[in-house]
Amino acid sequence: MAHFLLFCKSMTRTKRIAIFASGSGSNAQKIIEHFKDSSEAEVTIILSNRPDAYVLERADNHEIPTHVFDREEFYHSARVVTLLQNLEIDLVVLAGFLWLIPQNMLEAFPGRIVNIHPALLPKYGGQGMYGDRVHKAIMSAGERESGITIHYVDEVYDAGDVIYQAHFKIEPNDNLDMIKYKGQQLEHLHYPRIIENLLKKL
Ligand code: GAR
Repeated sequence: MAHFLLFCKSMTRTKRIAIFASGSGSNAQKIIEHFKDSSEAEVTIILSNRPDAYVLERADNHEIPTHVFDREEFYHSARVVTLLQNLEIDLVVLAGFLWLIPQNMLEAFPGRIVNIHPALLPKYGGQGMYGDRVHKAIMSAGERESGITIHYVDEVYDAGDVIYQAHFKIEPNDNLDMIKYKGQQLEHLHYPRIIENLLKKL
């Protein structure tokens, strides 16, 4: 009976999300808003490698705890992983986080770390491919369409299994801002709901 009750508790407790972000955090904001009134899941903590990242202000505005770390802590200590484990995090969500995830975190959260990328992977991915650099490369190549990719994270930049992709058309007159805007709209629309679907399966 005790085991059954424990099982039921783990099935029903609110799922916990940790978001890693290095910059503005517009995706983080959409995820926070999506789960604000949910009993299924919550954003438990926001972590960043940049003390000046605007995402930290967004977290403060929603009274979500934050943690800032440096390279030493992230790559040469277990502190970040231990923090996530102590908080009983179910899903780690990268939203504009630009560092490679270390092996100890991949091992602690197998199949539980996801990322969003502003292109149709495997095109325009890899180290150094983030933000405007991606959109500029897409423009220079004269692509007629682009999109977004949500994927699992492994030890290689932007290489994990694809969970979801959405496409948009690039019109001849679209400039950098327009391409960026179209991609961002898709990210904001789909990332929160894909996260919700993933959490339901955990
Ligand atoms: C997003 O467009 C995300 O796809 C991209 O950074 C942006 C973060 O925006 N991530 C990468 O390029 C990862 N390679 P945000 O801070 O406003 O959410």
